[in-house]
Amino acid sequence: MDKKTIENFINPEIEQYADEHTTAENKMMADFNRWVHVKMSRPRMLSGAYQGKLLEMISCMVRPMAVLEIGAYVGYSAICLAKGLQDGGMVHTIEVDEELEDIILEHVEKAGLSSKIKLHIGNALEVLPSLQETFDLVFIDADKINYAHYYNMVLPYVRKGGYILLDNILWSGKVLYPQPKGDKETAVLKELNDFIQADDRVENILLPIRDGLMVCRKL
Ligand SMILES: C[S@@+](CC[C@H](N)C(=O)[O-])C[C@H]1O[C@@H](n2cnc3c(N)ncnc32)[C@H](O)[C@@H]1O
Repeated sequence: MDKKTIENFINPEIEQYADEHTTAENKMMADFNRWVHVKMSRPRMLSGAYQGKLLEMISCMVRPMAVLEIGAYVGYSAICLAKGLQDGGMVHTIEVDEELEDIILEHVEKAGLSSKIKLHIGNALEVLPSLQETFDLVFIDADKINYAHYYNMVLPYVRKGGYILLDNILWSGKVLYPQPKGDKETAVLKELNDFIQADDRVENILLPIRDGLMVCRKL
């Protein structure tokens, strides 16, 4: 693949066809998605309709009691992950940017999920040790530099047979090439992909959707 085209490593027509054959967001989530694109900086960080539906599907398949998300942004993916919770279950989502707190809480309430999503404002590296839960499903979607730390910190707290999902693991295709000098994020992600591949605590599958989703199942 030509380095210049790595941003578009998935055929856009295939992506569009997949979008057209995927259940659409409900009205609340579609309005939320549009609002983020109009009002927020960096709307590309949002999981969006397609990946959001995948997260919802995975949650509905796993039927978790306890979900952990690292990197909430506006709370869109936390809402998707909450869809498959068992009665009494909880999504714990961690977000470092305190300016996002009101936005997250407002939309979680609009989704009717205030009793099922607990927001932790703070740096995940500091918040994680205080969450002594056993998780059925974890979604890692924060700063890439700390991805390996997050993976190693949370794995002991995932139940046997539970799942860890890691987003952006293809990093616009940059993991295919030697990283330019100073590109620490690509280096971390390449190393982590190799580490997970060799990690006998999990089995894993890298899904080349959107920016790459690594799915790990704890053995
Ligand atoms: C890609 S966005 C998350 C998108 C969201 N999960 C979704 O799919 O809609 C990454 C988020 O991680 C947050 N973040 C970055 N570093 C963090 C850290 N050390 N602890 C907690 N959150 C962090 C950022 O502020 C940002 O809101």
